[in-house]
Amino acid sequence: MDMLQIKGLSKVYGGGVTTRALSDIDLRIAKGEFVGIMGPSGSGKTTLLNMVSTIDVPSSGEVLINGSNPYLLKKKDLAIFRRRQLGFVFQDFNLVDTLTIGENIVLPLTLDKRPIREMDAKLAAIAERLGITSILKKRVYEVSGGQRQRAAIARAIISSPSLLLADEPTGALDSNSSRIVMETLEGINNSEGTTMMLVSHDPLAASYCHRVVFIKDGQFSSEIRRGDSRQAFFQKIIDMLSFLGGNANELSSIRV
Ligand SMILES: Nc1ncnc2c1ncn2[C@@H]1O[C@H](COP(=O)(O)OP(=O)(O)O)[C@@H](O)[C@H]1O
Ligand SMILES: [Mg+2]
Repeated sequence: MDMLQIKGLSKVYGGGVTTRALSDIDLRIAKGEFVGIMGPSGSGKTTLLNMVSTIDVPSSGEVLINGSNPYLLKKKDLAIFRRRQLGFVFQDFNLVDTLTIGENIVLPLTLDKRPIREMDAKLAAIAERLGITSILKKRVYEVSGGQRQRAAIARAIISSPSLLLADEPTGALDSNSSRIVMETLEGINNSEGTTMMLVSHDPLAASYCHRVVFIKDGQFSSEIRRGDSRQAFFQKIIDMLSFLGGNANELSSIRV
């Protein structure tokens, strides 16, 4: 069974002017798959991710995660569902400045009232894997962007979520840190089999995915799959973006 099923999803934002941000999107993601969503700025990528992450409510259509519709859950159950089933990574890291890096990483377990011993063991193991053991006692402002994002990834996976959702995770990073962050996500996908959905307009980031879905003006446009070579996939992604048009100036930093 597919881990994620999106059926006929549409979103219209209200207010003074109505914006049709998404139209009739269908998408299935298998367990363990790493899928990228690309498209020009304003094409609806974040809207799509927010419907999957239950941050925002669809206007029509359906989202099923592991076969169940999170929008049918009561508020309290939804909070638990999100904390246990979903992991989030954002462009701006979303770390709590007043906590240490370590306290940030264990936050989901703290909220879930897990025993301290379990938290310490999980924290040590995850920090070791992500190469951030030496910064656990530091404050957020004392570490680099790349380290912040690895801490955010550690926090996102500490509850072993079935689905990891990332919105422009490399958007605030230099190319070297971007590469480390994407290799970290790829490593987690390989070793834990965590299903991942990545929204990005960065071709380098997208080239780590198994498959990239392109949307334009809120509609499905096309999709391409990675073969053996990430390098070749990177080039295919660039070609597709220029074919779809309107995106050339977003490719300001081409790097392989
Ligand atoms: N909260 C909102 N209210 C009204 N319009 C919005 C809102 N969020 C996004 N939009 C509009 O929906 C469209 C898609 O936005 P978004 O999903 O953020 O695109 P992307 O992430 O691909 O840049 C844009 O036209 C944007 O202006
Ligand atoms: Mg966006």
